[in-house]
Amino acid sequence: NATSQIVVYVNGKEVIERQPDPETTLLYFLRNKLHLTGSKLGCGEGGCGACTVMVSSYNREEDVIRHVAVNACLTPLCSVAGMAITTVEGIGSTRTSLHPVQERIAKAHGSQCGFCTPGFVMSMYTLLRNNPTPSEEEIEAAFEGNLCRCTGYRSILEGYKTFAKGCCKKGKTCCQNEQNTDNEQGSPQLFDASEFTPLDPSQEPIFPPALQV
Ligand code: FES
Ligand code: FES
Repeated sequence: NATSQIVVYVNGKEVIERQPDPETTLLYFLRNKLHLTGSKLGCGEGGCGACTVMVSSYNREEDVIRHVAVNACLTPLCSVAGMAITTVEGIGSTRTSLHPVQERIAKAHGSQCGFCTPGFVMSMYTLLRNNPTPSEEEIEAAFEGNLCRCTGYRSILEGYKTFAKGCCKKGKTCCQNEQNTDNEQGSPQLFDASEFTPLDPSQEPIFPPALQV
């Protein structure tokens, strides 16, 4: 009967889970049942952000769609029934094309071992879905739940701050490069922002109409 199954959309595709186990986490479901292993199991207790995915839901009373970055390791599968899940596989890949959020962390050298990268990508992606022109402070705040043990964060933050409102690096080489190749701390520039694909928010997947009820 209808109570013994739940429906979620994962990367735009309907998934029906019959007799869902209330103890199954969203991360376990994604990795072990759907074989979407881009989302990583780091700590398993909400501390590292490697498992971050975007959960989108429709609020009928306010007639709005909300996008939230969640730790899939802490999220019971049953709690996202009727919602749309977007994982790192759902936004782009090297086989098709990279999403600007994926491209910029790579070109800015913000990925070393890569274990944390899907989590950073999905935190940044969720922020941009809610606000395509965030401030630098909003970008920093979006990563409060993401840990990286390799990069020291500078490359991740500098790459992603190119999405910030008013960033001089948008679509052209940073103005700091005009005089010399060092930034204000005297460190060499990590990347050439003119190589970055611009973000086009109109190209994002739509919320599944079947869930907009
Ligand atoms: Fe570390 Fe989920 S695996 S927060
Ligand atoms: Fe290794 Fe972030 S790149 S943990």
